[in-house]
Amino acid sequence: RVVAVILAGGSGQRMGLSTPKQLLKIAGKSILEHTLGVFEEAPDVDEIIVLMNPGFLQDAADCVRKAGCTKVKAVLPGGTSRNATTQLALDALADHPAETTSVLFHDAVRPLLSQRIIRDCVAALREHRAVDVAIPSADTIIQVDQDVIVDVPRRANLRRGQTPQGFRLATIRDAYDKAWQDENFEATDDCSVVLRYLPGTPIYVVPGDEHNMKVTEPVDMFVADKLFQLASSDAPDLTEDQYAEALGGKTMVVFGAS
Ligand code: CTP
Repeated sequence: RVVAVILAGGSGQRMGLSTPKQLLKIAGKSILEHTLGVFEEAPDVDEIIVLMNPGFLQDAADCVRKAGCTKVKAVLPGGTSRNATTQLALDALADHPAETTSVLFHDAVRPLLSQRIIRDCVAALREHRAVDVAIPSADTIIQVDQDVIVDVPRRANLRRGQTPQGFRLATIRDAYDKAWQDENFEATDDCSVVLRYLPGTPIYVVPGDEHNMKVTEPVDMFVADKLFQLASSDAPDLTEDQYAEALGGKTMVVFGAS
């Protein structure tokens, strides 16, 4: 059985609005509705749970209804950090069998996730206990200490991590049980928790996709809106010209237009 956990517990401080970014509208629907719709349509996903910023639970329930989601089993309050939200999801799955349940944790604010990525993650979880999704980095990634470079790792070996991150339920439970015993525990994702606290567990990497962007800063609203417009056009794959137009074109973008 495959459970998708939609992590929507954040408040979107970098977006700078009083409404959490997962409730902002792009292409006529809230970001959360778009994300829910992708998992609802995924044949491999049996069940969905949503972990929402506690001040906006009713809004999340409205999104579930509007997205016509029949797979959503619960809308629950998230925690004060992303990892605390993951733990609350694991608590909610306490009655699921640990070895035969797979869990896909997905950032609610990545609404352009493809069916291909979900399919690849679920397929990989038949062989592996942990799966990440990542893409190559066009930028050189530098490591800094204060404002000074301490290392420039070889770009060919670097990837930018996306979500979903998928696990056998037993593995991610075990990793979090150990992590909370460490008083210095902090992480911004779930794969690093397995890497650190269950060393030796291979984490398979599925290729991600540039479209599977995380809506984080205000400019991302423009990019995501344009990508939705292009996705709903006839062209299945974007040409280079379409990308150029998406990112630099003069087309007026109207958020919330249906
Ligand atoms: N998230 C969560 N619970 C938290 C914090 C974050 O479920 N306590 C979720 C967010 O809702 C988002 C995903 O984790 O879908 C990725 O986090 P991020 O983009 O950092 O979201 P925010 O924490 O909302 O943004 P910011 O860091 O700008 O405040």
